[in-house]
Amino acid sequence: MGIEINKDTNEFHLFNQNISYIFRVLEKSNQLEHLYYGKRINHRKSFTHLIEREIRPSCNMFEHDHTSSLEHIRQEYPSYGTTDFRYPAHGITNNIGSHITNFQYAGYEISKGKPPINQLPATYVENENEAETLEVTLVDDVLKSKLILSYTIYTNRNVITRNAKFMNEGEEAFYIDNAMSTSVDLPDDQFEMIHLNGAWARESHVHTQKLFTGVQSVYSSRGASGHVHNPFFALKRFNTTEHHGETYGFSLVYSGNFLGQAEVDSYGVTRMMMGINPFQFRWKLNPRESFQTPECVMVYSDQGLNGMSQTYHELYRNRLVRGYWRDKNRPILINNWEATYFDFNEEKVLNIAKTAKDLGIELFVLDDGWFGKRNDDTSSLGDWFEDKDKLPNGIEGLSEKVEELGINFGLWFEPEMISKDTKLFKEHPDWLIATPDRQVSHGRNQFVLDFSREEVVEHIFGLMDNIIKKSKISYIKWDMNRNITEAYSTSLSKDQQGEFFHRYILGVYKLYEKLIEKYPKILFESCAGGGGRFDPGLLYYAPQTWTSDDTDAVERLKIQYGHSMVYPLKSIGSHVSAIPNHQVGRMTPIETRANVAYFGTFGYELDITKLTDEEKQKVKNQVTFFKEKRELIQHGDFYRLLNPFEGNETSWIVVSEDQQEAIVGYYKVLAKPNDKYYRLKLTGLDPNQLYTIKGMNTTHYGDELMNIGIILNEDYTDRAEDYWNKEQPHDYDSKLFILKAK
Ligand code: DGJ
Repeated sequence: MGIEINKDTNEFHLFNQNISYIFRVLEKSNQLEHLYYGKRINHRKSFTHLIEREIRPSCNMFEHDHTSSLEHIRQEYPSYGTTDFRYPAHGITNNIGSHITNFQYAGYEISKGKPPINQLPATYVENENEAETLEVTLVDDVLKSKLILSYTIYTNRNVITRNAKFMNEGEEAFYIDNAMSTSVDLPDDQFEMIHLNGAWARESHVHTQKLFTGVQSVYSSRGASGHVHNPFFALKRFNTTEHHGETYGFSLVYSGNFLGQAEVDSYGVTRMMMGINPFQFRWKLNPRESFQTPECVMVYSDQGLNGMSQTYHELYRNRLVRGYWRDKNRPILINNWEATYFDFNEEKVLNIAKTAKDLGIELFVLDDGWFGKRNDDTSSLGDWFEDKDKLPNGIEGLSEKVEELGINFGLWFEPEMISKDTKLFKEHPDWLIATPDRQVSHGRNQFVLDFSREEVVEHIFGLMDNIIKKSKISYIKWDMNRNITEAYSTSLSKDQQGEFFHRYILGVYKLYEKLIEKYPKILFESCAGGGGRFDPGLLYYAPQTWTSDDTDAVERLKIQYGHSMVYPLKSIGSHVSAIPNHQVGRMTPIETRANVAYFGTFGYELDITKLTDEEKQKVKNQVTFFKEKRELIQHGDFYRLLNPFEGNETSWIVVSEDQQEAIVGYYKVLAKPNDKYYRLKLTGLDPNQLYTIKGMNTTHYGDELMNIGIILNEDYTDRAEDYWNKEQPHDYDSKLFILKAK
């Protein structure tokens, strides 16, 4: 187990109990050839019998040699222009304007554990036996550059992480035009690509399509990972389901412009790669400088999509999220946004906080509108001073009063933004991102601060710090409501403008890091108009994310189902909101709204003071229920059961690690008259364990529940009266099944 190296043939085999990854050094060119990635195979001294070389009409690297075409060799980190014509994993322009590179094997190092990546978020280990890292060094003698390819294999997880580092060891600067985090050439194309895409208020819908010959990709060029594509994709076999079959997942720990791409060539080879989007990227690497890519987390599963997701969930929950909140249950919060929007004052929000406290809610969050003169979305971003008309006692006074009620206080910021009517803009007009002599586009009437500049990050830290240090703040919602246009930084030279987007996101990470360092107990929730930056990069700083501005329970089935492909329930911000729903006008029962929101961090986003006594009692019961089950929901194994993209029903289950307890969410969107018989097959249970299901007076073995299922129709033998008196079916119905080992 670990990393085996055959020094005679220069072969590398990374493996643990479940996965194998094999590559070697090519004899003649000293470049790296990929041999295998997938289910664990027995280690052997050499895998050279896996080499395939056909003689094909193509260009070859060596004279008189007809099998040295890189186009026909599966590679580890391919380049363009020296016989391979597919998209490369890296691209460089040197001082004579050439793009040709030749990185050749020079050695390797193996270390226990996993080194961090400078300035970038990454998964980590707590103990050096959790993982082993292989760093392969390649050298390009002409460019005078080193390339270090890092591979970390986790001992007990089906995970390999990769990144690449370029080091300029010469006397001339060169430009990195493309630097992928990973590239894998798989030997066939019998896959479907799964990815998560959408738009504002309908993020992370699951899309599946068969691979075709050519390039298919997901990407962002907006300065953030974005609502449109999540920085994730998977390749699955045609017969792979949620529960069975092979899947390869790729997830980028990064919050800026990214690319995830699969290219199928004419010979059925699939090259997949992931990293910073090369579009609009160019990094000037001066002598003695280095550039390291973000990390790509590759998961192999032969247990279907659920198997892949569970690996991501466990890894991201325990070895990506850090700090005080990592292992803690998340507070049940109430947010005032959909309750008041900009129209609030101290009395109004204190009433909400007081009522929330009486119903058992643990955290009150004051959203947008507390600063400057912000009564709508046209003003004040950057003036992080309280609006004393709304809050005469400031945030300091309000937060104290909220705390005195016995409920914690949280606050909204949008640190990266600026409005033109602010003191900040008057003092620093040049901090706004703009291209000289060009018009500047707005998004939601606002502009973006140049976070690639250190002094901007420092200044915003100072403004936020002024508020935080004098107040009792235990939570911050960090919002970001527009993407970057007219990208340009006056602080960068003309040949460094291609660095802007990456430097911007490094600035965002830096501000997070500074705030966390000073206030390690504050819980951060990231947000970008909902899920516009729901990515693993931000989870390193903000352990939870506001998943979507769409709070409708039915829409949320798809949104939360999609996010669960990669992200653990504990990171998925989910609230019960008012009806008619503010995004789609739908009227769903409060039970269903909660039954959906339970599968996440759980909270409320409505004017709780306006609820009837009966509704308040329901909220109180829901809060009590969630507190009882929070540990199970936020730390158990989550399995998707029925897919909302395929039919009228959705279902999922969370099972405790010891399989003694489980909760099933079952949702039927539209009622049907005289309907068919339904059975809901569960998964993840102990087959030999007898379970009770709350509300049912029978017991069931796990194997029965998994193979026969819960029979959803009741037995009305000799109970005609009950049948006629039962509740009528209705739309947006849902049920929770609570299982307990007997
Ligand atoms: C977008 C967020 O997603 C909402 O929850 C809310 O915070 C608004 N911004 C405030 O402007």
